[in-house]
Amino acid sequence: MKVPRLNPLVLGQTSYPSNLIQGPLAGISCAPFRVLTARYSQPAFSCTEMISCKTLLHQSLSAQKRLVMKDSEEGPLCFQLAGSDPSELALATKIVSDLGADLINLNCGCPVKKIRRKGGGSSLLLEPLKLYQMIHAMKQSTKLPVSIKIRVEHKNELFHEDLLKVLKDSGLDFLVVLADIGLSIMTSLAVTTV
Ligand SMILES: Cc1cc2nc3c(=O)[nH]c(=O)nc-3n(C[C@H](O)[C@H](O)[C@H](O)COP(=O)(O)O)c2cc1C
Repeated sequence: MKVPRLNPLVLGQTSYPSNLIQGPLAGISCAPFRVLTARYSQPAFSCTEMISCKTLLHQSLSAQKRLVMKDSEEGPLCFQLAGSDPSELALATKIVSDLGADLINLNCGCPVKKIRRKGGGSSLLLEPLKLYQMIHAMKQSTKLPVSIKIRVEHKNELFHEDLLKVLKDSGLDFLVVLADIGLSIMTSLAVTTV
């Protein structure tokens, strides 16, 4: 397996020694997994799996321990939220900020029908105004960097220049673009500042 060369990564005001990110993996990227990956590969930051805003708002935090727990041995942690309602996202952003998040990401890349049907995941790119309102609401609720994750495929023409302008105006700090560079354990995400 070809191992990519690691370089420093600068995102806004923060600089990280490595440009490797432990991506969000539903059912896998819980705290014990992240402690192991932090110990052996020292990513710039790790991500939680996608956490639904509705779950976060309507279930007790103790019932969601596997999703929201952050271990003291972990490095910087990005909480990934899933949702489509600006006011729910604002509240969820406040909750994860108080739980010790270092960064916050909104999932705009999930292609799964069940998520898209509820207006979440990659279907968010179809509604630029709503996306603007969501990111703006998140930025109003936290001082932490806010990003979105998108998936760019050949057949996917959802991501275009106009959308990029909307994202820039929304206050988004950076954009995470899914790119396949052939890694299996550390998921591969190319990161760019907006
Ligand atoms: C089991 C599994 C769960 C995933 N869960 C999420 C998720 O919760 N949120 C997300 O944005 N991406 C999720 N992804 C996508 C990965 O984060 C990653 O972008 C994708 O696997 C591509 O990386 P790779 O080429 O290294 O496999 C998941 C992928 C897998 C295989």
